[in-house]
Amino acid sequence: MKIILPILVCTIAFFSCTRDKITPIDSGCQTSISFSADVFPIMEANCISCHQQGNASGGFDLSSYNAIASNANAVLGSMKANSFQLMPLGGPALPDSTIQKIACWIEQGKQDN
Ligand code: HEC
Repeated sequence: MKIILPILVCTIAFFSCTRDKITPIDSGCQTSISFSADVFPIMEANCISCHQQGNASGGFDLSSYNAIASNANAVLGSMKANSFQLMPLGGPALPDSTIQKIACWIEQGKQDN
């Protein structure tokens, strides 16, 4: 029932269900997220080609810890198309489990580890 209800509600209100309402895969962010092992590889694989010094699309250089940490809300918002344009540009959106890692990294205090 816990699972069926949200699915039902989402099906009925299909167009109003943003990615924001997707159930976290790791609710409570119990798994510790590492910047170097988790966050940076995600950024490297999906974002940095368009967001680095000399090619900071939209004014965002996302190629270092400091840059990613200080723009963390925009990074997460863009992955969820929440208040920001969907990234990676042109889509498709990254998998929920990937977005969740970024969300948990922020929730855990943006560790530089
Ligand atoms: C193919 C190139 C490309 C890739 C890959 C890409 N971006 Fe972007 N990004 C852009 C461009 C171009 C803009 C500026 C868009 C505009 O001004 O309309 C932009 C803008 C942004 C913005 C500002 C959006 C806004 O609404 O103000 C953020 C935040 C961002 N990107 C984050 C990311 C993240 C995080 C990733 C990886 C998940 C990523 N981008 C991947 C090209 C890219």
